[in-house]
Amino acid sequence: MTTLAGIKKVTELDVENKRVFVRVDFNVPLDGGKITDDARIVEALPTIKHVLDRGGRLVLASHLGRPKPGKTEGLSLEPCGARLAELLGVEVHLPDDCVGDSAKKVVFDLRAGQVCLLENLRFHPEEEKDDETFAAQLAELCDVYVDDAFGCVHRAHASVHALPKLVADKACGFLLEKEIDALGKLVTAPDKPFVAILGGAKVSDKIAVIESLLERVDALVIGGAMANTFLAAKHLDVKASKVEGDKLALARTILEKADAKKVAILLPVDVVVAQSIEAKEGRAVDVGAIPDGHMALDIGPKSLELFAARIAGAKSVFWNGPMGLFEREPFSAGTFGVAKALAGASAFTVVGGGDSAAAVKQAGGEIAKKINHISTGGGASLELIEGKKLPGIEVLRA
Ligand code: 3PG
Repeated sequence: MTTLAGIKKVTELDVENKRVFVRVDFNVPLDGGKITDDARIVEALPTIKHVLDRGGRLVLASHLGRPKPGKTEGLSLEPCGARLAELLGVEVHLPDDCVGDSAKKVVFDLRAGQVCLLENLRFHPEEEKDDETFAAQLAELCDVYVDDAFGCVHRAHASVHALPKLVADKACGFLLEKEIDALGKLVTAPDKPFVAILGGAKVSDKIAVIESLLERVDALVIGGAMANTFLAAKHLDVKASKVEGDKLALARTILEKADAKKVAILLPVDVVVAQSIEAKEGRAVDVGAIPDGHMALDIGPKSLELFAARIAGAKSVFWNGPMGLFEREPFSAGTFGVAKALAGASAFTVVGGGDSAAAVKQAGGEIAKKINHISTGGGASLELIEGKKLPGIEVLRA
């Protein structure tokens, strides 16, 4: 279910003087120990400030990265604690573990309006196993539970699933509420025409979401390397372009299904090609005229025009996945162009997290502001759009 039905909001919880355990998603990108995008921390601030302003004793918990058993190096939440302290202008206490004596000492010493950030939950493999004993240890640190970690609600992990089962008083934070509201609208009652734009590398990553979107959208726009597989499925010779050879039959089935459901599938009509991803420049050619030894690395200007026109005529738009190798300037025009088209649309516009959210930000501040919702979740936003029941959301229902 993709609605907030039966889920309490943080505003409905009595937090004064309580130990308020807030699961956040501070799984931010790091480069040499420095945070390169603090959006997930910034997006959690409304809930954090709400709890602190009402005299809660705030216990924040998150995972960071995917630590291998016994390996914790470079994955401490310390940089996130430091950034949060800067943003809040208050001290953030950092115990060196998320459970056990050091965590208890810090948490039990917290006074109203004070904040601590527990160490990376995934330093304990029990977190990913949804382990009840581990959850019970976390529950000792918690009078009331708030989930504001949208990026993690598709994971049945202890801090988002087993733990809230043990706590009577629980709610969603402002960020989770906003995410369910925006993405849920596209699942339950999208204004039509509804256009979905999918990009990125692999068809295989998006099969479930494509199948589900075909039931709801009026048009599916496909770009990025996954478009090559569809073009190849239509017997175009895409030369050195990346193609998932074992997914050609699947791509044909998707095209047939779309046809039967009268869903328009828009594929690139031209692409920007080069001989390698390191090339300093690319050139636009029609999809049927890719030169030998060249690969498609972005959609071309004619495709962008076609896609932008579809976006302009839509009332709802969902976008996930870049149109090309946008990290490299010669191959960024398609992705930034789609971001601009969304910003200029009168439709209700939602961008799924990950690369497309990063692209929207890189496209410029004004563009990001004009998009209705930029999700903080990657996998979570795709699974929600699929209409799946997500463990971290279902567990919050009364
Ligand atoms: C994300 O970055 O999408 C979330 O934080 C979940 O992380 P995970 O994919 O490692 O579970």
